[in-house]
Amino acid sequence: MNINNVSLTISAVRKNQYPQNFFPEIAFAGRSNVGKSSLINKMLNRKSLARVSSKPGKTATINFYNIDDKLNLVDLPGYGFARVSPQEKKKWAVMIDEYLNTRDKLKQVILLVDSRHKPTEDDKTMLNFIRHVCDRAVIIATKFDKLKKSEQETSIRTIISELSLSGDDVIIPFSTINGLGVEELWCFINEEIMQ
Ligand code: GTP
Ligand code: MG
Repeated sequence: MNINNVSLTISAVRKNQYPQNFFPEIAFAGRSNVGKSSLINKMLNRKSLARVSSKPGKTATINFYNIDDKLNLVDLPGYGFARVSPQEKKKWAVMIDEYLNTRDKLKQVILLVDSRHKPTEDDKTMLNFIRHVCDRAVIIATKFDKLKKSEQETSIRTIISELSLSGDDVIIPFSTINGLGVEELWCFINEEIMQ
């Protein structure tokens, strides 16, 4: 995809702050540190549009990116970060629930899972939320560059079976280091979301 102008429209914590444009929207969900912000940068070929950190809990707001006045990409705050108070967990849940259940132009929530680990209970819970608002599951297996060749197939199989993927569901291995999955994800977005 040929991209000219990308910008952060807003970092929102509640509905009345969401952008009022009518572009189709794709949101990225997943555990803290799984690579959501890095994936957005990689997809847009920008080094540090979305803030990335080796420490989990970097993205704490719902960040809306405008792609050429055609598409919104949304970086959701991560979950499963151990050092989080019950109040913060509650704030996260309210924010995510409000977003998922009220956003009309939301075409797909894409779930990122770490290809090196078995999906967590939190990942399964998140996928359940997603299944309530999306017809299919789209899963990104992140940090694929960290796997040995011999581990790659097992990783995909484990994700498929742990998350009970089937039918129309999609899984894409991804790496910000070697660009694996960038093309495939753009093809999916162009063919299945933008049509
Ligand atoms: P939160 O904002 O806390 O929810 O995290 P996030 O999901 O946005 O993760 P982020 O993009 O900040 O990345 C976390 C760490 O993983 C950073 O140190 C990234 O450099 C690293 N990382 C992300 N994607 C990849 C990848 O494909 N390969 C490798 N090797 N590292 C990656
Ligand atoms: Mg982030």
